[in-house]
Order: sequence, then C-alpha cells, then structure tokens
Amino acid sequence: MSKVLIFDHPLIQHKVGVIRRKEVGTKDFRTIVSEIAGLMCYEATRDLRLRDVEIETPIAKTVVKELSGRKLAVVPILRAGLGMVDGVLAMIPAAKIGHIGLYRDPETLEPVEYYCKLPEDCDQREVFVLDPMLATGGSSSAAITMLKEHGCRQIRLMNIIAAPEGVARMQKDHPDVDIYIAALDDHLNEHGYIVPGLGDAGDRIFGTK
Ligand code: PRP
Ligand code: URA
Repeated sequence: MSKVLIFDHPLIQHKVGVIRRKEVGTKDFRTIVSEIAGLMCYEATRDLRLRDVEIETPIAKTVVKELSGRKLAVVPILRAGLGMVDGVLAMIPAAKIGHIGLYRDPETLEPVEYYCKLPEDCDQREVFVLDPMLATGGSSSAAITMLKEHGCRQIRLMNIIAAPEGVARMQKDHPDVDIYIAALDDHLNEHGYIVPGLGDAGDRIFGTK
C-alpha cells in the first residue's frame, strides 16, 4: 500500500490557506502555488540517497555529500500541474521535464489524453508527477499508467489538495506510488469538485475564468 504524507509544515499550511480564498487573484494564486510546490518538493526529497565524495575546498581536502541514486524527472499534468514546475525546479534544477496533457470530461469526469512528451530516459529516472488537485483521482491515475507504459518504475505523486476519493483511487490503481499532499479535504461535490478545495486550479492559475 502506498504511503500518503500530509505536509504539515506551517509555511505550507499558511500558503494553502491563502490560495483557498476566493478573493485571491491570478497573479498571487500562481505565485503561491509555485512557492507551495517548492516547499513540498523540499519535504518530498528528504529521503533521496547521498554518497560521500572527496573534494578540495580552497583550504583543504574534505569529504562532502552528493546526491546519488536515480536522476530525477518532473512531469506536470497539463494544465494546472504547470503551475508547480518552477517551484519544484528551484529545488531540483537538474531534473528533466516531461508533459502529460489530460483534461477531465465535465460530464463523465473521466480523463481524456491529448499530449504526452517525456524525457527519452524517463524509465531510468525517479519521476515526480505534479498536479495541484487530486479529485476523483482519474487524471493522476491515468498519468501514472502512461508513465508505467513508458517503463517508469519509480514514481511519486505530488498534489496540493486531495479528496479522500482520489487517494482511495490512487491506492487501488497504483499501490506502489507514494502520495505527497498539503491537505486532505472532506469530499467531492456533485460536479467532482473538491470541498472545500480551491475551485478550478487551472482556471485560477491561468486566469481563464
Ligand atoms: C483538473 C486538475 C486535475 C484534475 C483533477 O484538471 O488539474 O488534473 O482536474 O481531477 P480528477 O482527480 O477528478 O481527475 P482539468 O481537467 O480541469 O484540466 P485543466 O488543468 O486543463 O484545467
Ligand atoms: N479539478 C480542479 O481544478 N478542482 C477541483 O476541485 C477538482 C478538479
């Protein structure tokens, strides 16, 4: 069974409280989503492996730590996942970036695929999937299935707000994928929106409504 880690760091919790407010406009919403993503990335990479390497400072030889293990890739789910990319890259600038385009059919709530472009060596990398919202879980689950079809085996999912329904769906479909979230909300409404949530993340990031 996958782990679900809820990041309770005060800075993350404060910022999530800000973006939930309906009066927060596009510019601030976009900035704060990016900041939250950076802070979440900092927490979510806590277990990356390190090795000792010998180096020379201007003064003396010494042993320092350097990241070892798999290289990283980040894969935002379009559109709203794009809002998390800059914040994550601020923490792990060497990561390669893939893109998966999915939109949720408003009637069926099923994800519809329209784009997929991944780093050639993504099967050799540890992949962080980014999407601010885990509602029914259909989009995140479909994106992870696509990554597995491309050979990816080490995958983590990073969402800002999740509904219990989405967590359950992910744990059923992808029990091998750990989920990092900032908030676990109450339920989905009849339109598949997270309650209390923050509304439509894509529209709020890009100002389309
Ligand atoms: C939103 C959100 C997720 C999806 C979550 O995207 O960014 O990708 O809905 O819902 P689910 O867990 O029920 O699949 P949307 O389909 O609105 O597309 P957009 O990002 O292009 O606006
Ligand atoms: N997608 C969003 O952007 N918000 C929700 O609450 C659910 C799905």
